[in-house]
Amino acid sequence: MAEEDALARTLDIARAYIASRADRPVWPATTLAALRDALGGALPADPIHCKDVIDALARAAEPGLVTTTGPRYFGFVTGGALPATVAAEWLTAVWDQPAGLYVLSPAASVVEEVAAGWLIDLLGLPAGASAGFVTGCHMANFTALAAARHELLRRAGWDVEAEGLQGAPRLRVIVGDEVHVSVIGALRMLGIGSRQIERVAADGEGRMKPEALEAALAGAQGPTIVCAQAGNVNSGAFDPVNEIADLTSRHQAWLHVDGAFGLWAAASSALRHHVRGIDRADSCATDAHKWLNVPYDSGLVFTAHPAAHRAAMSLSAAYLVRSAEEPREPMDWTPESSRRARGFAVYAALRSLGRSGVADLVDRCCRLARRFADRLQHEPTIQILNTVVLNQVLVRVVPPSGDADAATREVLRLVQEERVCWLGGSHWHGMDAMRISVSNWSTTEADIDRSADSIIRAVRRH
Ligand SMILES: Cc1ncc(COP(=O)(O)O)c(C=O)c1O
Repeated sequence: MAEEDALARTLDIARAYIASRADRPVWPATTLAALRDALGGALPADPIHCKDVIDALARAAEPGLVTTTGPRYFGFVTGGALPATVAAEWLTAVWDQPAGLYVLSPAASVVEEVAAGWLIDLLGLPAGASAGFVTGCHMANFTALAAARHELLRRAGWDVEAEGLQGAPRLRVIVGDEVHVSVIGALRMLGIGSRQIERVAADGEGRMKPEALEAALAGAQGPTIVCAQAGNVNSGAFDPVNEIADLTSRHQAWLHVDGAFGLWAAASSALRHHVRGIDRADSCATDAHKWLNVPYDSGLVFTAHPAAHRAAMSLSAAYLVRSAEEPREPMDWTPESSRRARGFAVYAALRSLGRSGVADLVDRCCRLARRFADRLQHEPTIQILNTVVLNQVLVRVVPPSGDADAATREVLRLVQEERVCWLGGSHWHGMDAMRISVSNWSTTEADIDRSADSIIRAVRRH
């Protein structure tokens, strides 16, 4: 059968890819032109056998793949893909459930319900919190802030879903100066332009200063959203959520926490103190495709206000038939109606790791980040710019003379060119930096040492 042939071939290709994962060059050596050549051409005039399609796709695409699932990819904040989650993703495609309504997939609905309960427990969120399975933390921020907008305007006597924003009471939004750009993007989609957002000062590690927030909150009245952050994308630092929650509760403001990767600190007894007060947040957003090592895409949103969450997201139409037993209707909690059944892979991740496995994964990545920093800082011209509190390390090259920004950029280029590991660049307090994020389940101490050696080699060579 054509389908079985194609799947059998896919298994072979996948096996070979997985076997090469730890040794493949982390970044591909191909060129844009070569990829266009290999993948392009005219639309085939007639059907092609699906096994041949897969063969050709794999042959043409593999030279252009970045080994993000490998143990020495430290770019952005990119998790690998746990074995159980890859398998669950395959089944998700085979089953092809549009996870919008219970009637479209009872299994997808119940899996989301169960996984949401496990996550709320694991992350220390309030029992009864609502949850949505979205594409990533950007859309999780969007969903949470839509719920915030609904609830604060409802309290002010305004139905934003019916009336829109024109003529609505003004919503204040306060963020830390180191807010992630996706929060700004989410607010923009919700009708709150970036110039309307109030920024309060952050400290040297990027943490919102509570005294600055206090002054801002005292400055004006009215419905207010405060966006805090658990895990700065550069430094990994945490805003003081508990202190911020004291202030937001005093001012009846909505506290949203963007915890794209930092929220997972809650799963570790050694790191949980970083997110103390998270149970007091009105909403929070995170990713499963980062630290939980679920394949892309997979984000999660939680709110302590299920009615507001649902009111901001849910739609009704005659053909969108709801079930009489009142099960979870997945589209009540996300901006999309039709979507992939993302819950299966999240469920598989949680079931395969268990509580202790998630804690081990988080603790191990942080230990390895610390090891990376320790190895690098023995090199006289390397400076670590952040306090390594989590899985993020910011590295700068400071030669005895000359331009440290240029040296940092050149060393990064050499490291990327060697392809033993991959890290990205960033900018921190006006300085160029190399950014390391240790987020992959399969990274070992030997991978860190090999990668640190590659960076040190580049520093000595540049
Ligand atoms: C703190 C923070 N928030 C939000 C995001 C956006 O997440 P995503 O790209 O998964 O939508 C990121 C991504 O790195 C992040 O670090």
